Amino acid sequence: LLQERGLIAGDGIGREVVPAGRRALEALPASVGLKFDFVNLDAGFETFERTGAALPNVTLETLKTECDGALFGAVGSPTHAVKGYSSPIVALRKKLSLYANVRPVKTVRSNPRRIDMVIVRENTEDLYVKEERTFDAEDGSGKVAEAIKRITERASFRIASMAGEIAVRRHKVRQASGAGSAREPTVTITHKSNVLSQTDGLFRTTANVALANYPVTVEEQIVDSMVYKLFRQPETYDVIVAPNLYGDLLSDGAAALVGSLGLVPSANVGDSFVMGEPCHGSAPDIMGQNIANPVATLRSTALMLEFMNEEEAAAKLYTAIDANLEEGKILSPDLGGKAKTDEVVEDILKRL
Ligand code: NAI
Ligand code: MG
Repeated sequence: LLQERGLIAGDGIGREVVPAGRRALEALPASVGLKFDFVNLDAGFETFERTGAALPNVTLETLKTECDGALFGAVGSPTHAVKGYSSPIVALRKKLSLYANVRPVKTVRSNPRRIDMVIVRENTEDLYVKEERTFDAEDGSGKVAEAIKRITERASFRIASMAGEIAVRRHKVRQASGAGSAREPTVTITHKSNVLSQTDGLFRTTANVALANYPVTVEEQIVDSMVYKLFRQPETYDVIVAPNLYGDLLSDGAAALVGSLGLVPSANVGDSFVMGEPCHGSAPDIMGQNIANPVATLRSTALMLEFMNEEEAAAKLYTAIDANLEEGKILSPDLGGKAKTDEVVEDILKRL
């Protein structure tokens, strides 16, 4: 089966870690029956400075018409507003209808803290519809700014269904591996419907309806106490589903629990397209030194395979990555090691 993958390295260390994902896909043994073709595509700030477009049309069109999936590195955004520039990743999620952002957060087996959860974040609406306005207060007391928080039944149902499916799939994998098979598949719905009874209320009600279709335990957690519990007892969570903004905050917070941003992957998932993306940014402070941790990108590559139903290939890659981390000898500096990016990649590929 020949598959076409788009590679969007972007800026900074994106250019050092995306090639690692490509090498892993090329190295996956033929036994999994896959063969990949690759196309390098431009996006990001450097592209913007060179061409005037952060997301060139040809990148979008090639992804739409020729690719089954993609790997995205990172883009660097300037801290000051630059006329005409807006983040290509937000645009890509919209234009490719990637309605879910899936972020697994997991410790390796030898770690006494057994964290193994997945955060499933709605990726299209909530405050991210970016409908804001500023006006003068009627009583002359100064300016007022407002933003729309839009929640729809359709998007809430869709994201909760995906969370249900992920919980069921994870449970099957746990059972097959004999590890933690006693753990019940659980989905925790996160919201603030005690305050926002209409918007978060709709999310909560709809998510409950959707999850009734799955053989999973459904729990609810108000988002502020969710943050508290996430830090106090992260071991207890399996799958967490949340509207866009809470999901954004929870998933960055959860990433802090496992040590380094350089370890945490994500996938942007739609009905017919998956884009793997490490959670970190372009890391200008370490770029060009061959010391970026490639694990987040390699895990994003495995996650992309998983969501394209290439589970055997994904499992092989996850296993090789975990073996490298378990052994703990060839690690990048963010994990206290001395290895270069290339050396970590070599070690993981060897284990494939
Ligand atoms: P960052 O994630 O790039 O870096 C934060 C810190 O973590 C830095 O000290 C960096 O060296 C370290 N780090 C990140 N990834 C690492 C890796 N793989 N291995 C070792 N260390 C790693 O976040 P920061 O510094 O806030 O943002 C830098 C640029 O990246 C900004 O322009 C920002 O807008 C952009 N960014 C882009 C994202 C994306 O493309 N999805 C996400 C986050 C930030
Ligand atoms: Mg974020």
